[in-house]
Amino acid sequence: MNTEHIKITDIVAEENDLARAASILREGGLVVFPTETVYGLGGDATRDEAAKKIYAAKGRPSDNPLIIHIANPADAEAYAVTNELYYRLAKAFMPGPLTVILPRKETIPTSTTGGLDSVAVRCPAHPVAHKLIELCGFPIAAPSANLSGKPSPTSAAHVAQDMDGRVDMIIDGGESEIGLESTIVKIADDGLILLRPGGITCDALSLVCDNVTVADAVLHQLAENERPLSPGMKYRHYAPTAPLVLLSGNDADVLAYIQQETAARKCAVLCYNEEFDALNNCILFPIGQKNDLASQAHKLFAALRDADGTDAEIIYAHLPPQSGLGLALYNRLIRAAAHTIKKV
Ligand code: TXA
Ligand code: MG
Repeated sequence: MNTEHIKITDIVAEENDLARAASILREGGLVVFPTETVYGLGGDATRDEAAKKIYAAKGRPSDNPLIIHIANPADAEAYAVTNELYYRLAKAFMPGPLTVILPRKETIPTSTTGGLDSVAVRCPAHPVAHKLIELCGFPIAAPSANLSGKPSPTSAAHVAQDMDGRVDMIIDGGESEIGLESTIVKIADDGLILLRPGGITCDALSLVCDNVTVADAVLHQLAENERPLSPGMKYRHYAPTAPLVLLSGNDADVLAYIQQETAARKCAVLCYNEEFDALNNCILFPIGQKNDLASQAHKLFAALRDADGTDAEIIYAHLPPQSGLGLALYNRLIRAAAHTIKKV
């Protein structure tokens, strides 16, 4: 398949290009589009064939459901059974990096939801995503636009590495601002269950709902045969080729440990900016200051991809804190590291 590449910097001046993208989707094709979290691999969420094409392009098991992207929170009415808590969440966080799991209506085929009777709904804030969904007039089903098992793409260049030749069009809308996928919550009888941490933190959710529980799989490895609340939790994610090891301990001990390891083998390090000089004999990917979790989130997936492109034998990163945005970083890194944590 020949993939068309377009770049959108002005949604008004370039509306014709976006209208062409919408018509590809209307005809059942696939278009990769930018969002504020990561790039999405989009197809018409109301069509069976589109979901099948998405799974094929990603190389993803078809029991892992897709998020449907809508232009306005109230559009969910046509596709899901909403409730009062959904609208409170929408008022506080939409458009933005929040996905809500709701009971599915028949308008969304089970091929989109991986056979489930629930549907994941998200209203992205990126202007290109918003305009594209509006022009379509139907929701866009989109997983992250990476090949299954690769880090989610946060730039059009990273999308092209994985998706060139597998989709009809790739829209470049610049670097994803947040850099980690959306926060996913399920509305339960008595509150919210956090299924995947992201840009909307637990503290922020707690302002809207006083009962927020964190699903076990967010922090821990699922036991064999354990049934996850979200099918995506059971797959290995974001895995670099060289082993990734997370280092826990005070910063001085972590630095000393890496320096000692460098003598034995080639190390790549996802380091804090302020560690750059001290680690100059390693392959370095500075992802932000120690206290700048937003920068670390923004740069994490690009750093993992870039570290993979080196001849490093091992990749090290700091074990993030489990609070605030740190919880999302922690969740992605423990999966990328297959839960390998070394205390130093
Ligand atoms: O930020 C994002 O959410 C990005 C952008 C493109 O919007 N999308 C994204 O999609 O990360 P994906 O498919 O890579 O991850 C969606 C996760 C999967 O782990 C899936 O299992 C879960 O959401 N999910 C989707 N529908 C669900 C449902 N009905 N019940 C439980 N989990 C669901
Ligand atoms: Mg994904």
